[in-house]
This record gives sequence, C-alpha cells and structure tokens, in this order.
Amino acid sequence: MCGIVGYIGKQKASAIILEGLKRLEYRGYDSAGVAVLRDGHFDLAKKAGRVEGLIKGTPAQKIAGTTGIGHTRWATHGGVTDANAHPHISSDGRIALIHNGVIENYASIKKFLLTKGFTFLSETDTEVLCNLLAYHYQKEPAAPEASRFLESVRKTLRHVEGTYGIAVLCTDCPAEIVAARKGSPLILGVGDGEYMLASDVSAIISRTQNVVYLKDGEIVHITATNFSITTLDAEDVSPVVDTITWKVEDADLNGYAHFMEKEIFEQPAALENTMRGRFAEDGSTAQFGGLNISAVDLRQVDRFHFLACGSAWHACLVAEHLIERFARVPVEVDYASEFRYRNMPLGSSTLFFTVSQSGETIDTLAALREAKRKGYKVLAIANVVGSTIAREADGGVYQHVGPEIGVASTKAFTSQLLVGAMLALYLGRMRDMSFSDGVEYVKALKGVPDLVRRTLETAPKIKEIARRYAHYHDFLFLGRLSLFPVALEGALKLKEISYIHAEGYPAAEMKHGPIALISESCPSVFFVPSGEMFNKVVSSMQEIKARKGRIIAVATENCDLPAGLADEVIRIPECHEAVLPIVATVPVQLLSYYIAEELKRDVDKPRNLAKSVTVE
Ligand code: G6P
Repeated sequence: MCGIVGYIGKQKASAIILEGLKRLEYRGYDSAGVAVLRDGHFDLAKKAGRVEGLIKGTPAQKIAGTTGIGHTRWATHGGVTDANAHPHISSDGRIALIHNGVIENYASIKKFLLTKGFTFLSETDTEVLCNLLAYHYQKEPAAPEASRFLESVRKTLRHVEGTYGIAVLCTDCPAEIVAARKGSPLILGVGDGEYMLASDVSAIISRTQNVVYLKDGEIVHITATNFSITTLDAEDVSPVVDTITWKVEDADLNGYAHFMEKEIFEQPAALENTMRGRFAEDGSTAQFGGLNISAVDLRQVDRFHFLACGSAWHACLVAEHLIERFARVPVEVDYASEFRYRNMPLGSSTLFFTVSQSGETIDTLAALREAKRKGYKVLAIANVVGSTIAREADGGVYQHVGPEIGVASTKAFTSQLLVGAMLALYLGRMRDMSFSDGVEYVKALKGVPDLVRRTLETAPKIKEIARRYAHYHDFLFLGRLSLFPVALEGALKLKEISYIHAEGYPAAEMKHGPIALISESCPSVFFVPSGEMFNKVVSSMQEIKARKGRIIAVATENCDLPAGLADEVIRIPECHEAVLPIVATVPVQLLSYYIAEELKRDVDKPRNLAKSVTVE
C-alpha cells in the first residue's frame, strides 16, 4: 500500500527512483511523484495515474539532481488527483515528504498549523505531516543543519498518531535524506557509493543486494557517504546489513504478458523451492528449521489458531481441514482484522500462526501483536524475508517463492497451501499418523510440482473456455471439504481481476440461498474429486442443471461424470487429498486470468486494490 523510493549517490536520482517506482507500483497506482534536490530547491513532478504517465509527461531535465524521493500512491485521505499525489512540499518550500500509512490525528494538527499560517494545497494527511515538520524545523535553534533536520523529524513524529513510512528532504541539506517507520515497511539499500530507500526489495534489487530492514520507531539519517540509525528517543541503533537472495530476473516479466501469468506458470518451481530441504531423512515426515518450538512443546499444543487476510485466509481454511484430518488437533481460523477486536476466550495451550505473503499486512500484524500481548507464542508463514510479521513472530516458515508482483496472489497462495499440508504431516506424524502413511504423504507432496505442471497443460483449453464465458456477470464457485476454500479462492480471483461478481460456497450449501441466482446467465464452477464426495457433488450439479445453470467442472481424471451434466470439463490429475487443493487451484487461476485478459482488464493492477495492505 503505497510505494516509497529514495536515492542518494552520484547518479541522476530521478531515473533510478522512477525505475524503482515502476517495480513498486503493485503497492498502489493511483498517482506517482518524484522530488529531487537541486541548488537549494526541489524539482518536483507528480501526477494522478500510473508511473508510466509520469515518466512520459516529465522531461528528464526538469528533475535533475542526485538526491531524491519518489512515491506511488494508494489513496487513503483525499481523492486521486495531481494535488493529492506525493511528494508534498511544505508551504514554506523547505521540506519535501513522502508517506505510506495513515496519520490519525491529522485533523487536529492541521487546525493548529492553520493558526500558525501554514497553507494546504491537498486533502491529504501527508501534507499535514509535511507542514508539521516544517513548523518544527523553523522552531529548532540554528544548530548544525543536519542535526536540526533530524531533530525536527523526531519532534514531529512524537506528535503523530497512526502509521507511517516516510522519507524526507530538506532544502538546507542538499545531500541528505531522513526516513522513519512505524507500521509501514521501509528498507535501506546499501550500494556501492550510494544508498537507496524502499518499501520493499524489488525496488532496489537491481542496484544492491545489501539491505538494512528498519524497525518500527527507527529513524535513518542518510548522507552521500554514510548513514546512521537512531530511535525516536535519539538512542543509537547498530545496523544489521542482510543480503537479499532474490534475483533481479525474479522481479521481471521475462517474456510473459503479465506478472500474474508468469507467477501462475512459475508454480512448479515455486512449490519445489517451498519444499526444498524440508523432509526428514527417513522420508516419512516434514521438518522445519525455523519453528523455534521443540517437538515436546508442540506435542502439548491442543489448538492451533490461524490468522490471515485475503487469499492467505483461504489457505488457512485448507490448513484447518488438513491439520484436523491428519493430526487430529482442533484448528480455529480467523480473519486477522476480526480477531484483533473480537476478544474471544482462548485456551491456554493454543499456538498461533499468522499467514501473510508480504509479511506486512497491517491487520495480520496487529493480530499477531494482539496474540503476543495475550502471552501466546505466534509463528508466521510468510514469503518476504525480513518482513515485519516474519521478524515479530516467534518463529515460522518462509515460503521461498520469490517476489510475487501480480496483485492477485497465485504462487504464494499455492505455496501457503503446501506449507499447510506439510505442517499437517509434521503434526500428524507426532500423533497418530503411521510411518507408512507418512511415507505415502511425503511422496504425494514431492509429486506436486509435476502435478501442477501437468495441470498447467490445460491452459489452452481454459483460455478457450474463458473466451466463451467472459461475458457473464455472475459466477458461483462450489466445492466441498478442502475444496470449499478453493472455491472461495476461485471466486476471489475472478472478482479481483475481472470485476465479475462471483461467490464461493460449499457445494451443498448452495441450496440454502445461492441457488436463487441460478439461471442460464449465472454459470457455476464445480470442483469434483473422485472418492466419497463424488456422488454428493454430482447431486448438487444436477440441481443446478435442472435450473438451466451452465456448469464448468474441474474434475479429477477418474471422475465418471454423467454425460451432458457439465457444459465444460477441465481435467486435473488424481492425487492425494493433501495436495488436491493445490492442483485444483491452478485451473481457476487460469480461468480468471484468461477471462480478465479477454475483458482487457489491467490484470496485474486491478482497480482499487493493492498488493500489500498496510492500512487498517
Ligand atoms: C491483499 C492482496 C491479496 C492478499 C491479501 C493478504 O488484499 O490483494 O492478494 O491475499 O492482501 O496479503 P498478505 O501479504 O498478508 O498475504
């Protein structure tokens, strides 16, 4: 949610910042802007719309200089206009500021600043923050400029409530940036004679692999040759420089039309990476290096509680099914946003898991903190290494699928399903699952990249189906047991990127309301596995057919579907029930992708959405 980039070094800042903004655009794409320091003033360019539009509309010589900041916005306070785009400049012209987050007490600060003669050009909370900083800067004694700049940032931040990741320039300090974070991600890239700031590594990976992950409450002061980190109370912090393992190519399209398409087709390799090194030598169970909880303590857990948002929440529902089924331990799944305010009674031997691709979703982070505040151990399943959730958790599992850039989650989702399946195995083998069942389970997990590869071969057929179904306005997605969350995910994918109304339901529950929607103009996507649920699902399909509803069936190979029942059949391989949700997800990812493409939607940047939601 909002992308921040900063550069200080010997190169032309604007080109590097704009390139970084393009890579961060998935975090928000309502407007973009850049401010560069030159000869004691700011060169400023900002515009509603995409980064590309900003680049096209801004002659390079208009934003020259080697120190600058840039921003791509997901609107919170104020509409999508040029004036509301960041960077904001203080009314005295001395401070330029970009901000990711929400300043909750901005109204009272604005009132105060108006009495002091400050003026405002936008409706944003960010401009208020910017002017508050200018106010404190004006009030600071004429100490050496650098410490005056830093100190006024500190004073300003002590007065604000809410969340922020900010980067600030000051006209009196031509080669300095001050940046700070609380609740919004910010990293410092340490390059060769240059420094970069960014909301995440994809913006800086082409220039450096060395990063410092800033923590909440920290302020970094960067000059052309050095940087220092302190807290809001001016205490020194010793920086830890980490090395990023992601490669530049991971953040490029590599010939695909969209990141979503690339990420769908990357899934076999991504799943391989999630599993790598995570099976015990005897071949009967999984192992995790980072859980930070002993087998003895894990054995004492009598309830798991999963917290997440969006697709990650769907992944938790599948994990619930598998853990209860194979490890026989009760599992609770909550929307992170609900859990933090629900105050439900919790048992004493509960272990929490937060699941988040980005590791930055604010609701999930707040839920993690709430569970920790209550004295619980909280583990995390996250993709982004060094993300806030990963760092604040007591331990956990990294997904290792590389950067996911398409706003609609695909490879991160199936990887979360895989981690859930591996956890169910690990916990199951600690309890009642036999050695031979464990061996069979491991074999099934190891086979999943290949099953996904085979399922991806149905892409041309699904593309053809998508072409014929793209004009429908409503869809139902129906599945049972572990395929019910996959139905939810299928519906979410379709609505996210094609803007078609879609709902996911347990197949049998469809009779209790959703069936009223059924007509020739509302198709249903059914997940049909062979085995005990087959006849039940077929009955539900008959009920739809009897009402002239069209049916797309995602059926496993051995399902002997009654002739003419489904209008379209997409076959997926027969597989172990632990991996079935992963395999069944692939066709609905492709279906929504191709429908969105057919409708010429902006697949990677669907309207109103952002990849990483760092505001409540
Ligand atoms: C946003 C994204 C979803 C994602 C959700 C949770 O809404 O658009 O694709 O599932 O956030 O994100 P997380 O990074 O916590 O998994």
